[in-house]
Amino acid sequence: MQDNTSDTVRRGAADPSIGAALMARLDAFAAFSEEPGALTRLFLTPEHAAAAKQLSGWMAEAGMTVRTDALGTVIGRYEGTAPGMPALLLGSHIDTVRNAGKYDGNLGVLAALAAVQELNRRGERLPFAVEVLGFGDEEGVRFPVTLTSSRAVGGTLTPAMMEVADREGVTLSDALRAFGGDPGGIAGAARRDALGYVELHIEQGPVLEAENLPVGIVTAINGATRLTATVTGMAGHAGTVPMALRRDALAAAAEMVLAVEATALETPDLVATVGRIAAEPGAVNVIPSRAVFTIDARSSSDATRRAGLDAITGRLRAVAARRGLDLSLETGHEATATACAPGLIRQLESAVERCGFRPLRLASGAGHDAMAVAAAMPVGMLFVRCRGGISHHPAESITAEDAGTAVAVLLDFLRHFDPSNLAA
Ligand code: GLV
Ligand code: MN
Ligand code: MN
Repeated sequence: MQDNTSDTVRRGAADPSIGAALMARLDAFAAFSEEPGALTRLFLTPEHAAAAKQLSGWMAEAGMTVRTDALGTVIGRYEGTAPGMPALLLGSHIDTVRNAGKYDGNLGVLAALAAVQELNRRGERLPFAVEVLGFGDEEGVRFPVTLTSSRAVGGTLTPAMMEVADREGVTLSDALRAFGGDPGGIAGAARRDALGYVELHIEQGPVLEAENLPVGIVTAINGATRLTATVTGMAGHAGTVPMALRRDALAAAAEMVLAVEATALETPDLVATVGRIAAEPGAVNVIPSRAVFTIDARSSSDATRRAGLDAITGRLRAVAARRGLDLSLETGHEATATACAPGLIRQLESAVERCGFRPLRLASGAGHDAMAVAAAMPVGMLFVRCRGGISHHPAESITAEDAGTAVAVLLDFLRHFDPSNLAA
C-alpha cells in the first residue's frame, strides 16, 4: 500500500507537531509583558517593541521578507510563484488588555506565521503572495482611540486621531515616533493592492465549545462605540457638608453606571459596559469633585447601538440635571457592524469541511482588526474554540489540538484560495 501520510497532512489533517510548536511559541511570546507573571502589552510600549522584534525574527526564519509600517505593524511577506504577486493578508494583533490571556490576537498572528512556515518548509509557493500582519492597537487600552494600526491599513486613519493622549499625557504621535514609527506616513500604510484579509482569532465566547467544534466561520462583527464620560461636581469636606447639599461626582457616576447597565438589560442585542472609573481628588475625607468613566456599547445592529446610546445619554443627562452636576460625553471610537465577505465565508467553510468538521457560522461579539481592514478589502474570519468562552482574562485557554486544527484549516484554505468574486 502506498504511504500517503504526508499527502494526508497536505489535504488538511492536523499535524500534531504544528499545534504543539504553536502553543510553545504562544507561551514564549507571552513573556513580552510589562509585568512578570502576567501578560500586559500595550500599544507602542517597550514590551510591544520587544514582541515586534521577536515576531520579525520568526517571520524571517519562515522565509518572509519583513518590514514595519508607519503605525508599527509588523508585516512579513512570503512570495508566491513569482515575485511581486498580489497578496492575501493574514493576521491579527499583538497588543493585549491588562492581565490578558495568551491567545487573544497573538494566536491569529502566530497561527498565520505557522501556516507560512509550513509552506516554506515544504518549498510550496502559491499563485499569490501571503503577508502576515501583526497589528499593535486592537485593544485600544492605552489611548482613547483604537484599531489605529488596522485603520491605517484600511485607509481610514486620520491625522486628528494621532493627537489623542494616554493617561500620562503622551500623544499617540509622540509615542509612535519613540517606537520608530512615522505619524506622517499614515497614507502610505493604506493597502489598496491586497486580495483580501483573513483573521484567525479565539472565539472569546462559548458557542464553539457548546457545539463541540474546534473552529467556526465568522459571518459578521458587531459594531461598537466607546465613550468617555466626565462628571463634574463640587469638592467639599466629608464631615461638614450635609448630604442634601452635596454635588458628589462619584455618587452621580455610580447612578450613571447602573443606568448604562439597565439600558443594555432592557435592549435586546445591546451590550454595554463601564470598564474604568476614576474619581478626583481621591481622598477618603473629600467629596469627589470629578468622576471619569468609560462606556463601551456594542450590537450587531447599528440602529440598535445608536438608539441604545441615545437612551443611555438621555438617562445620564437626567441624573446629572437632578443632581446639579455637569456631564460631558466624548466619543473615542466608533465602528459600524462589519459583514464578512460572502466569498471568504464560503471558502473558509469549504476548508473546514475538507478538514473533516461541520462548518458552523457565527457572529462576533468582540471587535477585531478585520472591521478596520474591511474599509479597503474583503475580510473573513475563522474562530477557534476557547475553554469556557473565557477571554480578556489570564485563564484564557485553548488546546494544542485545536491550535493544530486551526493551522490545518488555514493551510487548506490558502491552498484552495480563489480571489475571484469574494464580495458576492
Ligand atoms: C477587543 O478585544 C474588543 O472587542 O474590545
Ligand atoms: Mn482580539
Ligand atoms: Mn481583546
